[in-house]
Amino acid sequence: MDVLTFLLSLLTLLSLPPSIHGQQPYIGKATTICDSRDNSTSVLGYTCNGLNKTCQAYLTFRSQSPYNTISSISQLLGSDPSQLSRLNSVSNTATFDTDKLVLVPVNCSCSGQYHQANTSYVVQPGDTYLIIANNTFQSLSTCQALQDQNNIPASNLSVGTRISVPLRCACPTTNQVDAGINFLWSYLVAWTQDVPGISSILGVDKDAIIEANELSPQDPVIFPFTTLLIPLQNPPTVSQTIAPPPPPPPPSSNSNNKTWVYVVIGVVGGVGLVLVIGGTIFFMFFRKSKKNVDPIIASSENFEAIMKPSEKKLEEESAEFLENISTIAQSLKLYTFDELKSATENFSPNCWIKGSVYLGTINGDFAAIKKVNGDVSKEIEVLNKINHFNLICLSGVCFNDGNWYLVYEYAKNGPLSEWIYHNNSDQKFLNWTQRVQIALDVATGLNYIHNYTSPPYVHKDLKSSNVLLDGDYRAKIANFGLARSAEGQEGEFALTRHIVGTKGYMAPEYLENGFISTKLDVYSFGVLLLEMLTGKEVSALYEGVNTHLSEVLSSVIHEEKGKENLGGFMDPSLQGNYPAELAVLVTGLIDSCLTNAPSGRPGMDEIVQSLSRIMTTSLNWELSKTASGYHSFN
Ligand SMILES: *[C@@H]1O[C@H](CO)[C@@H](O)[C@H](O)[C@H]1NC(C)=O
Ligand SMILES: *[C@@H]1O[C@H](CO)[C@@H](O)[C@H](O)[C@H]1NC(C)=O
Ligand SMILES: *[C@@H]1O[C@H](CO)[C@@H](O)[C@H](O)[C@H]1NC(C)=O
Ligand SMILES: *[C@@H]1O[C@H](CO)[C@@H](O)[C@H](O)[C@H]1NC(C)=O
Ligand SMILES: *[C@@H]1O[C@H](CO)[C@@H](O)[C@H](O)[C@H]1NC(C)=O
Ligand SMILES: *[C@@H]1O[C@H](CO)[C@@H](O)[C@H](O)[C@H]1NC(C)=O
Repeated sequence: MDVLTFLLSLLTLLSLPPSIHGQQPYIGKATTICDSRDNSTSVLGYTCNGLNKTCQAYLTFRSQSPYNTISSISQLLGSDPSQLSRLNSVSNTATFDTDKLVLVPVNCSCSGQYHQANTSYVVQPGDTYLIIANNTFQSLSTCQALQDQNNIPASNLSVGTRISVPLRCACPTTNQVDAGINFLWSYLVAWTQDVPGISSILGVDKDAIIEANELSPQDPVIFPFTTLLIPLQNPPTVSQTIAPPPPPPPPSSNSNNKTWVYVVIGVVGGVGLVLVIGGTIFFMFFRKSKKNVDPIIASSENFEAIMKPSEKKLEEESAEFLENISTIAQSLKLYTFDELKSATENFSPNCWIKGSVYLGTINGDFAAIKKVNGDVSKEIEVLNKINHFNLICLSGVCFNDGNWYLVYEYAKNGPLSEWIYHNNSDQKFLNWTQRVQIALDVATGLNYIHNYTSPPYVHKDLKSSNVLLDGDYRAKIANFGLARSAEGQEGEFALTRHIVGTKGYMAPEYLENGFISTKLDVYSFGVLLLEMLTGKEVSALYEGVNTHLSEVLSSVIHEEKGKENLGGFMDPSLQGNYPAELAVLVTGLIDSCLTNAPSGRPGMDEIVQSLSRIMTTSLNWELSKTASGYHSFN
């Protein structure tokens, strides 16, 4: 779909009479009132008003342990595992990250009054119809529909019973088919999402969504933990499960005409963006998944004949895709899989570092090669724009057999986490000055992405395992998979689509409201500094904390003789070998980073300045220490 077609279809939609038939009344808040028999909304299921009695439909599911693999999700939702893995462009054995939005293809059919996809579920301890519908099935079913279709009263639901679960799906109505809609997608609404936001993430017209769910055009209110029907011309694609950069802020205008023009410009601009990023980056995925959902009808004889050319096609497409990527990311080298194989002795265990990361030797230099099963566009996009000593450098990419391989500079001393929560048996120890240097490095890297890139980025997942140390113990921030641009000025907020990141490091405003700003990283940086000073893992830090992590600091910050209390606070392995005045200063810095209100936290530029001064003084301290005969650790 190009911009012109889109504009035309938009115009067509705008000029359609408002009487175009809605699909199904939106479920609203009814989901939790389990004993209500009110069927005025779609609480029992989407009514059978489709053109066809059966159809291909799609659901979304947020990966949650134990339902975080292709096999567990397909089993839970009664979907076909190979279709599921193809649609999500991952292998059959893939494990999804927590909260990753997974596309689920189902056969939807009309069972009496309601469209549904059938699956079944064995009742677990603690389950109620509401918990099964809302938590396990994430609102893809409702407690009312479960009760309606199982002859077991809620009070008699016993562990081990297998119940049938109708999943909420629908087939397009005649009107929708006439308007070019071929599929309906049961999309899970998350916290903070609204119809315009969903429309822009998915690239689906807002009015079409409003109509499909019979929402009020003036005030389309939706709630989290409900399903929203998304009308689609083509099957959904992986690119739609990733939030693109936020749309431009809505222009304020009094004139309706003007607003309309802005909307068109905004939408076309948005689509342009989606076309550039989505169209190029996901060109291949799209083509692939589109092709794959077409049923392959083949006898075993001509099966090979059919498969071979398409495999070849796939290779061509990935080549085409890689060409496209190289025009976006000119500094990236495109490696062939053979090159990577020879760099890693055919991915031998000798070269294995951890997880899916291998150590490779390319032209005599070491490189870290990470195999990624899933989407890498965000990381490539971000890392390609930034180039800084304190940010890990992505030097190349390779695509092979459905997997991405990202080639990074190699950081010899590995993750910082391994150096701060060491056990006594290993020799890993960082002295005071090294710790300050690492903190300054991380702050400098963050300052760069916050203040010197356009648009500014928020890393969103800063933690000690995402900070790598090179041979000289200088720090490099890694793992930009979650990074996103922070639109607007510092202090202004964007809203996120769903909460991702690492527990314990996440700022309160993000956990509570999904607010995103550069101050998110400042909070995580505070947690990281705290780990470095205390030598305690983040989970250990939270032990004994009632409401706020800064309680950990109170004995040092808020007591008159804070300096004397440092002993119980600092990492014991430093053995008191640190300048107490500076340690108190760093503690104060941590306290300000952990301020509840984002606006109360310092900016990364201020932090860099403070840490630079602390670094200079630390170096002097070190010198004087050696001069006066102390033995320096190292
Ligand atoms: C609601 O239930 C009543 C009684 O069972 C039935 O007559 C009516 O058609 C139902 N309405 C809808 C929208 O399904
Ligand atoms: C859905 O229907 C198609 C074609 O009828 C079939 O191949 C596929 O296995 C079905 N999927 C499930 C999960 O039943
Ligand atoms: C799904 O389950 C309902 C109720 O248990 C049943 O009436 C219907 O026939 C089933 N549909 C399919 C396609 O198996
Ligand atoms: C539904 O599930 C979500 C996510 O698990 C949970 O946050 C929410 O409280 C649940 N709603 C109810 C009414 O239990
Ligand atoms: C509840 O369960 C018991 C034991 O499984 C069964 O005997 C009884 O008939 C059930 N009651 C209802 C109302 O289904
Ligand atoms: C409805 O069924 C017809 C005939 O089986 C098929 O060609 C058409 O694609 C179906 N339409 C939808 C929207 O599923």
